Parts: sequence; structure tokens; C-alpha cells
Amino acid sequence: MTVHFIGAGPGAPDLLTLRGRDLIAASPVCLYAGSLIPEAILAHCPPGAKIVNTAPMDLDAILAEIVAAHAAGQDIARLHSGDLSVWSAMGEQLRRLRAFGIPFTITPGVPAFAAAAATLEAELTLPELGQSLVLTRTPGRASRMPPRESLTNFAATGATLAIHLSIHNLATLVADLLPAYGADCPVAVVWRASWPDERIVRATLATIEAAVAGTMERTALILVGPVLAAEGFAESSLYAAGYDRRFRPQDASSRFAGSAE
Ligand SMILES: C[S@@+](CC[C@H](N)C(=O)[O-])C[C@H]1O[C@@H](n2cnc3c(N)ncnc32)[C@H](O)[C@@H]1O
Repeated sequence: MTVHFIGAGPGAPDLLTLRGRDLIAASPVCLYAGSLIPEAILAHCPPGAKIVNTAPMDLDAILAEIVAAHAAGQDIARLHSGDLSVWSAMGEQLRRLRAFGIPFTITPGVPAFAAAAATLEAELTLPELGQSLVLTRTPGRASRMPPRESLTNFAATGATLAIHLSIHNLATLVADLLPAYGADCPVAVVWRASWPDERIVRATLATIEAAVAGTMERTALILVGPVLAAEGFAESSLYAAGYDRRFRPQDASSRFAGSAE
């Protein structure tokens, strides 16, 4: 018996990996993390599967489901939204599974920031303009931030920010970012990226609060940085005609000549 942790993607059912789909189809038990997992993904469960929404359950209750399936020799598909490496609460489940000696696998998924970038038709790293992406959040009722991971500290780097779980903190977030990024810095908020009702608001740090006007709750990603509105950025060396590289040696004297195979 194995617990298969599966990143179920940002919402669109066809943004599930083939491996994730096949594991769901082969598991007689499915534990899924609430409304961010679309019905169409649960439809991959085999006929008669036990399907449990874990949103109202605490960790002990979730572990009780897993231990019961383990005793019955039944594999579990454990679904979380997006990818499992960020804000999935997978870490604490893995710690318990290791303690119980219950085997598990991990199948990554498409994270929300990638879906939001696709919606915005944006590359979040552009040559010379932005080469770092910070995936972060602001403090929540149940989650304090490590002291050095403040927005003002990240802002000092000027990196592109993908701020999760924070649409309700928009006013504070803007106040924290304005001094470093400036009023004209582009901001985009993507609500329910990849869902049929997805929405985008594009504005600047000065105007984003008025533009959102309290119309978005919960499942929204806030992206901040000059890359979002850039047109005049440099082209990458990778595809530059004169750039000597392994797969495109410039001439016979290139250090890569003859090594492309
Ligand atoms: C608990 S975290 C889950 C993150 C997820 N594990 C991932 O890989 O993106 C939930 C937050 O992710 C963001 N989020 C998740 N799905 C989203 C979507 N489809 N569109 C926009 N933001 C999303 C929102 O900021 C939301 O508050």
C-alpha cells in the first residue's frame, strides 16, 4: 500500500500530469484538499472509490483515513492544488507517514504562479531586468512569517514577486512595496488562473487597490515587478546569432566544434 501525493494543478482539469491521472485511476481511495480540486479531476477515480474531502478534517483525522487504508492494503491518491512543494501541508503529512512506516510517492503539479504567468502571457524572468522570482506570502491568521522574510526585505532586491495567500492584505502589501518598486511598478492580480471564471486585473502599485476594489477573494495571485510590462528588454544570449554554444558552434575554432552530438 502506498500514499500517492499528487499535485493536481491550478484548476483546469487538463493541467494534471499523466502520471497523476494514472495514479488517481489506480487508487481505490482518494483524499482531496477541498474546492480547489475540480470535479473533473475526481472523475478519474475508479468506480466505487472512496472519495474524501479533507478540507474540514484535522491532521489526526486525515492520518486516521490513511492508516485505515493502509490496514486494508488500499493505495491512496492524496490530491493537493497546484504543486506539492509550496503551501500544500505535505511536509507534516510526510513526517507522520515516515513515523508510521507508510510508503509514499510524490508527483509534482503545475503551480499557481506558472498558471498565472501563462494567463498573463508573461515570462517572469527577462534578461537584465528580472532574473529572480520570489514565491512568497504575507502573514496569515495561522501563519507567522520568519522575521527576515518580510516583503520589505524582498523588495530591496527588486526581484519579481509572486505573492500568494495575500489578496486580503493588498493595502499593507502595497505600502510595503511602494518605497522600493515605485508607484509606476506594474502589478497583475490573477484570480482563479486556468478556471473558466478566471479574471485578471492589471495596474500599478499606485492603482492596484482601486482597480481590484475588493472584488477578488482568496484564490488570487499577486505578481509584482518591472518584467510584467516590459517591452524594451534585451534579448537572451542563448538564441543570439553570434553566440558560441554547444549546440550551435560558430566555426571550426569554436571550443564546442564537434561536441554537439
Ligand atoms: C494554499 S496555497 C496553494 C499553492 C499551491 N500549492 C501551488 O502550487 O500554487 C493557495 C494560494 O495559491 C494561490 N492559488 C492557488 N491556485 C490559484 C489559481 N488557480 N489562481 C490564482 N492563484 C492561485 C493563491 O494565492 C492561493 O491563496
